[in-house]
Amino acid sequence: MSADKRNSFTLTDNRTGESFEMPLMDGKVGPSVIDVRRLYAQTGCFTYDPGFTSTASCDSSITYIDGDKGVLLHRGYSIEELASKSDFMEVCYLLLNGELPNVEEKEDFSKKITYHTMLHEQVMNFYRGFRRDSHPMAVMVGVVGALSAFYHDSTDVRDPQQRLIASHRLIAKMPTLAAMAYKYSIGQPFVYPRNDLSYSENFLHMTFSVPTEEYKVSPVLARAMDRIFILHADHEQNASTSTVRIAGSSGANPFACIAAGIASLWGPAHGGANEAVLQMLQQIGHKDRIPEFIERAKDKNDPFRLMGFGHRVYKNYDPRAAVMRESCHEVLAELNVDDPLLELAMELERIALSDPYFKEKKLFPNVDFYSGIILKAMGFPTSMFTVLFALARTVGWVAQWNEMIEDPMQKISRPRQLFLGEDKRDFVPMDQRK
Ligand code: CMC
Repeated sequence: MSADKRNSFTLTDNRTGESFEMPLMDGKVGPSVIDVRRLYAQTGCFTYDPGFTSTASCDSSITYIDGDKGVLLHRGYSIEELASKSDFMEVCYLLLNGELPNVEEKEDFSKKITYHTMLHEQVMNFYRGFRRDSHPMAVMVGVVGALSAFYHDSTDVRDPQQRLIASHRLIAKMPTLAAMAYKYSIGQPFVYPRNDLSYSENFLHMTFSVPTEEYKVSPVLARAMDRIFILHADHEQNASTSTVRIAGSSGANPFACIAAGIASLWGPAHGGANEAVLQMLQQIGHKDRIPEFIERAKDKNDPFRLMGFGHRVYKNYDPRAAVMRESCHEVLAELNVDDPLLELAMELERIALSDPYFKEKKLFPNVDFYSGIILKAMGFPTSMFTVLFALARTVGWVAQWNEMIEDPMQKISRPRQLFLGEDKRDFVPMDQRK
C-alpha cells in the first residue's frame, strides 16, 4: 500500500471556493481509497456513509474479494482451490500466518489446536442455566463471552504470546462449545473431545455420538463438514468481522470480542440467512408457488426477501455458493437422501436468475443458499446452522482481530454522526409540559 501525493483527489468546498487535496492510496489489487483522515481537520466536515458502502475501515492483507468477478482469495489462494485441495486446519494456519504450512508446521499447529479442545469443567454449568429450548446462538453468545472468566492467562491483548494462546483456544474450543449447545438442546449428555480425531471428525463425534454406543465418523460427512468450514472461514470486513474489530479496538479481551462477532452474525441479513433459507424453502413448499414468492421478493411494500440471495460485495455468483451447490449434490448422493428442497432450491435459483429484477440488481445465490440443505441432510437441526457458521468464522475473526491489534496505526473505532435531533434547549419543568 502506498500514499502518493501525485495521486490525489481534489475536493472543492463550493461555499468558499477552497480546495483540499486528499491522497489516494492504492492496494495491491482492487479499488484505490481516498485517504480522508485529515478531512475534518482541514475542512471541518465529516464524511457520511451509513452501512459503510464506500468506506474502507482498515487495511488488511488477509482476504480479497472481487465482487464483480465473483473472486474470493485467502492470502492469495482461491476459495475453489482451498476447498478442493486443502483442509480446514491448513486454511486456519494460512489465515493466521499468511502462508500455507509445511508438513511439520501443519502437524504442530493441528496438535496445538487438538490439545486446546477441552473446556474448563465449570463451563458446563453455564449450559445448565439456559432453558433447553434456547436458541443455540443465544447460548453461544453467552458461553463464548464467559470464556474470558476462565482463561485469565490469555486476556492481555498487549502480550503476543497471550494473543496466540487465546487464538488457539478460541478455534479449538468452538466445536466443543457448539456441540454442547446442540446436546443440551436435545437433552443428551455432553460428549468430550477426542484427540485422535481431526477437527471436523471431532466436531461430528461430539455432536452425534452418544456414550452408549460406538460412533463411526463417516469420512464423506467429515470431508463435507471440513469443506463447509473452509467456505465460511473468512470474508474480509463483513458485519461480524467489523464488529469484532470495533469491539477489539477498545482493547477488550478476545473472548468478549468474538462473542460480539457471534451476536452480529446471528442476524438474518448475515449468518442467520442459512437458517432463514431453509425456513423460506419450507414455506414455499412446492415449485408451483415459486412465482408467488418471487413477486413478493420484488414488491417494495412486502418485507419478504429471497433469503440466500444478494450480497453487498458480490455482484456476480458468490464463488462459495458454487462450491456449496456442488457439495450439496455430492453429499445428498452419498447419503442417498432425496430431498425435495434441493430440487425446489434449484428451480427457485433458475427462475430468479432469469427474472429481470434479479438480473438488473445483480442478485445471485450467496453462500447460505445451499448450505442449509447439506446441513439438514447431515442431521443438523435448522437452529444449529448459524452456529456452524460462527464456528468456522472464528478463525477469520481471530486473524482479523490479531491483524488489527498488531497494526501500529490502530486506534479505537469511533465513527462520527450527522446530528438531526434537537439543538440545546431549556429544561421544561413538569408542570409546564403539555
Ligand atoms: N431479495 C429481494 N430483493 C433484494 C434482495 C433479496 N434477497 N437483496 C437485495 N435486494 C434488493 C433490495 O431491495 C434493493 O433494491 P432497491 O435498490 O430497489 O432498493 C437492492 O436489491 C440492493 O439491496 P440492498 O439491501 O441495498 O443491498 P445490501 O448490500 O445493503 O444488502 C444483503 C445485502 C445480503 C443484506 C441483501 O442482499 C439481503 O438481505 N439478502 C438476503 C439475506 C441473505 O441472504 N444474507 C446472507 C448474505 S451472505 C452470507 C453472509 O455474509 O452473512
